Amino acid sequence: MKKAFITGINGQDGSYLTEYLLKLGYEVHGIIRRNSVPEHQQSRIDFLRKDLHVSYGDLLDVSGLERLLKNIQPDEIYNLAAQSHVRISFDVPQFTAQVNALGALNLLEAFRNTCPDSKYYQASSSEMFGTSIGENGYQSETTPLNPTSPYGCAKVFAFNITRNYRKSYKLHAVNGILFNHESPRRGSNFVTNKVVKGAVMIKKGLATKLELGNMDSYRDWGHSKDYVRAMHMIINHNIPDDFVVATGQTHSVREMTDYVFSKLGLDYKKFVIQNPIFLRPEELPYLRGDSSKLRKTFDWTPEYTFNALMDEMIDFWMENIKI
Ligand code: NAP
Ligand code: GDD
Repeated sequence: MKKAFITGINGQDGSYLTEYLLKLGYEVHGIIRRNSVPEHQQSRIDFLRKDLHVSYGDLLDVSGLERLLKNIQPDEIYNLAAQSHVRISFDVPQFTAQVNALGALNLLEAFRNTCPDSKYYQASSSEMFGTSIGENGYQSETTPLNPTSPYGCAKVFAFNITRNYRKSYKLHAVNGILFNHESPRRGSNFVTNKVVKGAVMIKKGLATKLELGNMDSYRDWGHSKDYVRAMHMIINHNIPDDFVVATGQTHSVREMTDYVFSKLGLDYKKFVIQNPIFLRPEELPYLRGDSSKLRKTFDWTPEYTFNALMDEMIDFWMENIKI
């Protein structure tokens, strides 16, 4: 039985990856952080709890990471933990850098010192591209990194240090450069889930307005379930390497909002207003990923279309918001 160790196991991706690995017969270990509301600290994995090995841990607590990895001796390590909200990274830039950049280095050190024959996956991000777009209108593995947020800058460090450890110490350490991916389990302060939840509240008469920031940025949105499948392929490639994971399609926040409200029989223009508190000091205007390297190497293809993704989220909130 293979063993996996997942940081951020209670996050959106951690929970779907856990389900996927359990189905493949893995023994799954993960860390959660102490929360003053204990029900929140493992809310997304509660239903899997009896099949899991969950410990308290933090990317900032190196001795704890070393102790866990030494005892578990995992075959695969997935570093998914992060302060993952881009706008909030402008409010807490130092904390974001501590966790997303130095936290990744802490885990790489623990990996190198205690289980160097394991494989390591780093959750890198399309936010690292910032303002860079290839001449063909896509971002790929060769597009320069030009981040526009403290989150993006911290992720660039984690991306580079993962490559550096791979080359310097001959470790099996890889990066998945994932474009935005969503699901009903997405935090409700990310734009897709915020729009769907807000629109459903309006539909049910529980709200009258939805406040958003910039509606003119474009994102390449996929489903988290498709992307955790790609993570497993990338970490298990015989040559440690870095891969973009994306659908190749892009939509503006406005188009996405229009789709969701229309699906509910509403006109978004009557309900959506701009609140400057949701604007960012610097915006990333356009993302569209070229994942041909991943598709050619593993025959990966996403199962969800953009419409199917948004429809699943709409159905989820329609069922779960009670009048
Ligand atoms: P998420 O839902 O925000 O989950 C992040 C998880 O990390 C949470 O469980 C969080 O725990 C945990 N965490 C935060 N700080 C930690 C620390 N210091 N030590 C240990 N755990 C900590 O994010 P996600 O959407 O699943 O994304 C997973 C990873 O992929 C993240 O690294 C993210 O930056 C990256 N990524 C995401 C996307 C996307 O579109 N979703 C795209 C590219 C890359 P708490 O609940 O205790 O805060
Ligand atoms: N969150 C949020 N809230 N975003 C808004 C809002 C709002 O009220 N109004 C407009 N937006 C715009 C943002 O300005 C951004 O252009 C776009 O919607 C997407 O925002 P998010 O859903 O917060 O995602 P993100 O693109 O900033 O970051 C996500 O994707 C990255 C990969 O590209 C996160 O999951 C990151 O962790 C991930 O690395």
